[in-house]
Amino acid sequence: MLTVDQPKGEVMDEFTADGPNAGQIEYWNEDSGKRWVEMGDIIDTQIAPLGEAAMDGSHAKIVSGERILDVGCGCGQTSLELAKRVGTTGSVLGLDISAPMLGRAGERAVEAGLGNTEFIQADAQTHTFEGPAFDLAFSRFGVMFFSSPVDAFSNLLSALRPGGRLTFVAWQELGRNPWMLLPVSAAMKHLPAGDGPPDPHAPGPFAFADRDRVGGILRDSGFENITLESYEKNLLMGGGGSLDETAKFLAHLGPASRLLQGSDAELRTQVMDDIKRAIEPYHGEDGVRMGCATWIVSANRPL
Ligand SMILES: C[S@@+](CC[C@H](N)C(=O)[O-])C[C@H]1O[C@@H](n2cnc3c(N)ncnc32)[C@H](O)[C@@H]1O
Repeated sequence: MLTVDQPKGEVMDEFTADGPNAGQIEYWNEDSGKRWVEMGDIIDTQIAPLGEAAMDGSHAKIVSGERILDVGCGCGQTSLELAKRVGTTGSVLGLDISAPMLGRAGERAVEAGLGNTEFIQADAQTHTFEGPAFDLAFSRFGVMFFSSPVDAFSNLLSALRPGGRLTFVAWQELGRNPWMLLPVSAAMKHLPAGDGPPDPHAPGPFAFADRDRVGGILRDSGFENITLESYEKNLLMGGGGSLDETAKFLAHLGPASRLLQGSDAELRTQVMDDIKRAIEPYHGEDGVRMGCATWIVSANRPL
């Protein structure tokens, strides 16, 4: 386990890219994880309101002194927010498969002086938890990448005390998220046609777009009191900035970046120009503002 007092990276040697999520482990430890570290502050500025909406109000119902598991915690911004909310009598364990992102999370916890935060490199689907220790399993966009969501959520349920809560935020469909749709459309224009439409349930950012499917997965994993609330918001893309900066940011994040993996500089420039044209109508005084649609999902482990 990587604690805030230990040098970052100490735990990483023990973790290898195998098991049912080997492809995701490779993906989040290579270019993508490194990109998230480089752009982490900008990404956080953009999506912080979505995580906070799930933490606050009637969703996560966080109480001081609680023990929280942050699933797919990435660079740790939500872990630190959760740690502030539970206070010094509570604690947060951030769990993720990505060594570079966990390294950044550990640094941030040290910078913030938050001694009630620990991080572990582990696969949420297969990790053996020490017992039903957590009051809440939380996630901001970290639970849509499992090869077997029912196995993963059954495992997370085993980490919760009876009556414990699950709260996470996940994207609704691509068409309801123009900030990802426009860059994907720009990239597809320049790439050879694939073998038909992609599997909408394949692990990835939109795997939980279908609310009935999410409800079914959680029921089959043993959860009850399952609710999905639609949460929509206009976000400042890339934390604000010029059209060029925003187009670059959008090309480097999410499904567009997956499509552009391995492509040459010329093609990237063409895609970036198309993205710029597509987002221009959304450009205002403080930068590009575009709509997004998420589900805030809540459930309980039965008593
Ligand atoms: C879209 S990023 C979100 C990161 C972070 N929650 C945030 O909001 O900034 C998805 C995260 O899920 C992690 N992840 C993917 N599959 C995972 C798994 N099986 N177990 C744990 N973490 C996983 C990735 O490494 C990545 O950090």
